[in-house]
Amino acid sequence: MASHYGEHTRAIRAAAVAPRAGTPMRIPVYRASTYAFETSQEYAASLNGGGKYSYARIDSPNSDAFAAAVAALEGERVPGEVHGQGFASGMAAISTTLLALTRAGAHVVASRALYGNTYKLLDSLLRRFGVDVDFVDAGDPAAVRAALRAETALVYTETLSNPSMLVSDLPALAAAAHEAGALLVVDSTFASPVVCRPLEHGADVVLHSATKYLGGHSDATGGVAVARPELMDRIREARVDLGPHLAADEAFLLHRGLETLPLRVERQCATAAEFAAAVRRHPAVARVDHPSLPDHPGHELARKLFDSGPGGTRFGAVVTVTPRGGRDAGTAFADRLRLATVAPSLGGTHTLVSHVASTTHRQMSDATLRAAGIEPGAVRFSIGLEDPADLIADALRALDELPVKE
Ligand SMILES: Cc1ncc(COP(=O)(O)O)c(C=O)c1O
Repeated sequence: MASHYGEHTRAIRAAAVAPRAGTPMRIPVYRASTYAFETSQEYAASLNGGGKYSYARIDSPNSDAFAAAVAALEGERVPGEVHGQGFASGMAAISTTLLALTRAGAHVVASRALYGNTYKLLDSLLRRFGVDVDFVDAGDPAAVRAALRAETALVYTETLSNPSMLVSDLPALAAAAHEAGALLVVDSTFASPVVCRPLEHGADVVLHSATKYLGGHSDATGGVAVARPELMDRIREARVDLGPHLAADEAFLLHRGLETLPLRVERQCATAAEFAAAVRRHPAVARVDHPSLPDHPGHELARKLFDSGPGGTRFGAVVTVTPRGGRDAGTAFADRLRLATVAPSLGGTHTLVSHVASTTHRQMSDATLRAAGIEPGAVRFSIGLEDPADLIADALRALDELPVKE
């Protein structure tokens, strides 16, 4: 795609078919599990890379169109070809990629600050299949380097970690991984290509839960992986064997969401920075995690790696607020909010909150949580598209109502 276009133009073009008179401006939903052929020969050829659709678990027009659009956004400034593949969920993209790129006896160096299900997948299921995993502080490239071994197949991290918003030093991690002959695999769900494009910083595979910012409306579940063709072929082969392909209806909605991705994320990031600064001043607040805050450990790195828009550097749109008073204060705060809704997930138009320790990270003990930089009372805000003043007023009122803690 032509790189002289601005980000909004690129997003619109990536999400649409080239306009031709009399043809639909949208790719229709191909709600078909199976496709017909003229001859058996033609059918057989399609299974050997013949370029025709045959069966929806293998490939489908809607999934392909969506994944190609994400690949265009992630890979726009990367030399050479970049391909994408659609998955039934973010976890489907993550698990399939990990299974495709490891084998019994392989070693993985993973960030300690990962989404709970990813952490569990690495710590439990992958170990059962003979993959050894070391969890390290991915904000410390020296720790990552020290953990690398001859058998290390990949380094795994998140651009922005869930929920502490730690920023991975992607260029340093890529250099360390590549020196050891390993790949760098990055879950960039929290950043989206509007904040950061890890392939530009040396990553080999970028993964997303498309359920979040890419779709953006909390109405479709999906995942996507983006990589150069030879790596993508390995991941696609595992996807076809394992079966978690993206369904056509979901792909259609996720694809449509891409058109407004830069518009939504720019606004969500600007609101998040305003919200973080305002809430932090409240006396009932022990800690706020958002890289826009100058004392956040990822602030300087984010300024270096992340894109800017009219609202300044985009530091992501998840803000984690820890009120004073531990675990109970966290749930009491979340339950007192009226505008922000208690709900799983993130990246949609509505501001959603969750008490981290009892929900997204319930798989972790308090000690493991603390090692990952998360307090048991932490409440994660996924900032939506409401007016910033309304969101701030809602949070400050809920904090005012908390029982006073020293
Ligand atoms: C960072 C991150 N990666 C992956 C996932 C999993 O995505 P999905 O729920 O689409 O499987 C999530 C879900 O919250 C997430 O926050």
